[in-house]
Amino acid sequence: MMRKWTGVILCISMLFLLVACGNTSQESRNNTARVEPQETMDNTADDVSSAESLPTEKTDAAAKTEKDNGVAVVYFSATGTTKEIARKIAGVLEAEIFEIIPKEAYSSDDLDYNEDSCRANKEMNDESSRPDIENDLSAVKEFDRIYIGYPIWWGKEPMVIRTFLESYNLKGKKIVPFCTSGGSGISGSMKGVKAAAKGAKVVKGKDLTDSSAKSVQKWAEKKVA
Ligand SMILES: Cc1cc2nc3c(=O)[nH]c(=O)nc-3n(C[C@H](O)[C@H](O)[C@H](O)COP(=O)(O)O)c2cc1C
Repeated sequence: MMRKWTGVILCISMLFLLVACGNTSQESRNNTARVEPQETMDNTADDVSSAESLPTEKTDAAAKTEKDNGVAVVYFSATGTTKEIARKIAGVLEAEIFEIIPKEAYSSDDLDYNEDSCRANKEMNDESSRPDIENDLSAVKEFDRIYIGYPIWWGKEPMVIRTFLESYNLKGKKIVPFCTSGGSGISGSMKGVKAAAKGAKVVKGKDLTDSSAKSVQKWAEKKVA
């Protein structure tokens, strides 16, 4: 009789155990189901932002620049448009970036091209004008490939670009011009840049106004090769 009851109690205990285990595994399945979609959503969000932002990994082109003494991106930007593009290029190529800072900063009156006598117009009408540069950019000489960016003023490169190119010995360097503009494009500036960068190899430049991060990257990597 006693043995019979022991058997019954054992059976009931095992039944309880089985039910308890069943609930636990159900719970853990539920937890997994709650976490996974969140993780998936996070990953999706990362994918979207990384597609828009610039790559941080070294590209083949960037690795190449390290071998051949590097790439510099030099720019002048009066109102920030060219600066943005310059930063994108430097990011893609992991290049050093240098700003050309005019000794006398351009005020909005200086840039008011509707006014014949504004400073920018006067400089652009004077072929001999070479506005002074505030900062020492001699470190640029250490680089074999120099991307140079500027806004288009009256179809050409601002005269301060000529000041820079004529201030340093850039013989044997590869110069890659880029610009932003209101639509004129870069072609009208190529002659002045070539003449000022004596002994350098100036390659075909590009107007990168409103270019996406992807197209800036594609262009920059092609030019570094
Ligand atoms: C004095 C001056 C002259 C300009 N001349 C031209 C021009 O001839 N053609 C053009 O497409 N844009 C012209 N622009 C517009 C600039 O090229 C354009 O806004 C550029 O993106 C500004 O770049 P930044 O913000 O880097 O200075 C001129 C702007 C200024 C201030």
